[in-house]
Amino acid sequence: MQHLTLVTHPLVQHKLTIMRDRETSTAGFRRLLREISLLLAYEVTRELDLTTTRIETPLCPMDAPTIQGKKLALISILRAGNGLLDGILELIPAARVGFIGLYRDPETLQPVQYYSKVPANLDLRMVIVVDPMLATGNSSVAAIDLLKRAGAKNLRFLCLLAAPEGVARMREAHPDVPIFTAALDERLDDHGYIVPGLGDAGDRMFGTK
Ligand code: URA
Repeated sequence: MQHLTLVTHPLVQHKLTIMRDRETSTAGFRRLLREISLLLAYEVTRELDLTTTRIETPLCPMDAPTIQGKKLALISILRAGNGLLDGILELIPAARVGFIGLYRDPETLQPVQYYSKVPANLDLRMVIVVDPMLATGNSSVAAIDLLKRAGAKNLRFLCLLAAPEGVARMREAHPDVPIFTAALDERLDDHGYIVPGLGDAGDRMFGTK
């Protein structure tokens, strides 16, 4: 599988443009994030293995396709990851859910972990890490380090926007983890924000500043 997948579907691109617009309200941003997360979830789960289950339709028995193996695990990097998580859970309500709390030290831009709770048997699950912004890549790399130590082997990283710096950092640290994103932007600014980006994803979805 390729390391970086851009989800170029017109619905995704249109919704992303409205989310980038500084005039979009908190309510609008949140609604669009939920909608776009359903579309991104569709892409990131494309390679889930299928098996068949015997069912009875009203007409006859049938060996019908169902998803194989243990329920997948969604891991949200707090706090902005929760915006993507909520939408994906509507599509995959039986998924197991974990949280990793990391904040970015404003001086060093390095991640500092303050919370972690992840599902059991990560080695037997597809593990999808969600965080809307892949900026420096420091938080994503730290989260995936932690998940690999907990046993995860089959990982995906899902974000809304990625910076080239973050993609390069991920490729270097975790070349086995495919990244799915709606857009690859130009660069990071001096504060580690993605340009042109959409601002602070957490602030925009929660209405904080
Ligand atoms: N986190 C954000 O919320 N926005 C950015 O542009 C970079 C990191």
